[in-house]
Amino acid sequence: MTDPKKPASVSIQVERTHPAPIGEQIYMSLHSSIREGILAAGSRLPSDRALAAQLGVARGTIRVAYDRLADEGLIFGAGSSGTWVCSKLPPMPSEHEEVLDRPLAGFTRPYSSAPLPFQVGVPAHDAFPFKTWERMRARAVRADALSYTTYADPRGEPGLRSQIAGHLAVSRQIQCHPDQIIVTSGYRSGLMLTLTALQASGQKAWMEEPGYPLGRRVLELAGLTVEPIPVDAEGLRVEEGITRASDALVALVTPGQQAPLGVTLSPKRRRDLLGWAETQSAWIIEDDYLGELQIDGRATPALASGEGAQRVIHIGTFSKTMSPSLGLGFVVVPKMLTEQFVEIAAVMLPAPNRTTQLAVAEFLADGHFLRHLRQMKDLYCERRACALTHLSKTFPVILRSGLGLVACLPETANDAMLVSKARELGLAPSALSLWYTDATHAKRGFILSITNLRADSIGAACAALNDVIAAQVKA
Ligand SMILES: Cc1ncc(COP(=O)(O)O)c(C=O)c1O
Repeated sequence: MTDPKKPASVSIQVERTHPAPIGEQIYMSLHSSIREGILAAGSRLPSDRALAAQLGVARGTIRVAYDRLADEGLIFGAGSSGTWVCSKLPPMPSEHEEVLDRPLAGFTRPYSSAPLPFQVGVPAHDAFPFKTWERMRARAVRADALSYTTYADPRGEPGLRSQIAGHLAVSRQIQCHPDQIIVTSGYRSGLMLTLTALQASGQKAWMEEPGYPLGRRVLELAGLTVEPIPVDAEGLRVEEGITRASDALVALVTPGQQAPLGVTLSPKRRRDLLGWAETQSAWIIEDDYLGELQIDGRATPALASGEGAQRVIHIGTFSKTMSPSLGLGFVVVPKMLTEQFVEIAAVMLPAPNRTTQLAVAEFLADGHFLRHLRQMKDLYCERRACALTHLSKTFPVILRSGLGLVACLPETANDAMLVSKARELGLAPSALSLWYTDATHAKRGFILSITNLRADSIGAACAALNDVIAAQVKA
């Protein structure tokens, strides 16, 4: 008879050349062993130390996998008695649950797990300064715990707003008072705050075509009619916007590095756009999701800097420059609108989690943020060059865009289907066609982030993606 107190023996193959990160492979392997009953309900797992030694990985890697399994109710930790497989496992996700996920499944998954190769919208996981960040957070937790038992400023912590204002002056040439800044839980809530404050429901909005699908969805959910306006090599075709919907209340744009094509709005188009907003008393919503994080050269100044800035609402986020898991962003509000924005923030969308705000304020104040950005630019430049070398034979047309590449496919290709094939191999590209409002005119391709292509896995990840295309050609 086996001794139930003795840890079960666990058989896991870790392939260092596999495109999926090692932690993900360990998690997947344990997950399926538990679900398939190979690791029996009620059995004891090896300690993180023992399993780490067995697999030749860091203990933290095992701990992350164990934490995920515990979050899913598959295992539990019992202190010094070890880690155990739950005696009653939660039911498998039903078809119903998958349906609930569906609207977003194509372009945002996976959530709350290790980033997969090519996954869009997430910065490099392996290059995040965890040690420094851990220190800042610990100090912030203490400061927060000792703070007054009163309501926090709904606009966000004054210290953070001052740091953001100072940073924007240098990096984006935006001249603003800290009181024009409202801290949000990221771009999406910044956009919702903006549309609510402008009472935009029932009005028209220009939206870049192609453009960020979540931005489009926010506009729709806020009750606006979306007018897709094409983007070309100079960015948004402003004259087409004016022809189609000169009476729109807002234009939602990514002028710095257009998402997903990466082009910068040309000086003439900038003037035209600002001119239209001034004449029509319309508002430009500048989605500055990458801020100054531009791989090639220097980022152009924000639309909210200089002449015409009084018609621009600038939305920033720490999702790409630090991490989306912070859930932190900000809006720079033109002076004439601050009162109505602050009122909405105070009653509906107050600034999030004070601890994170305090920690980010210190991260900026001590120069870690700028240092981190500099390092990320160099790292992303290397990773992109390497990815281009590996992918250029398979994809004759590849555009450099933001923190990644757009690999173009023939008009007849089903990019959404190819993306699901890639997902089966542990890769997470995004389908270009999903970024269009008008599916009939959508271009096909892969949007590929290069941020998480580590030196030891980039070759395998690119080879696997090339295979997806090769299999399609054969079929
Ligand atoms: C175009 C664009 N805007 C904004 C964001 C960031 O959004 P959030 O701050 O809500 O994470 C992203 C993330 O992928 C994006 O691609």
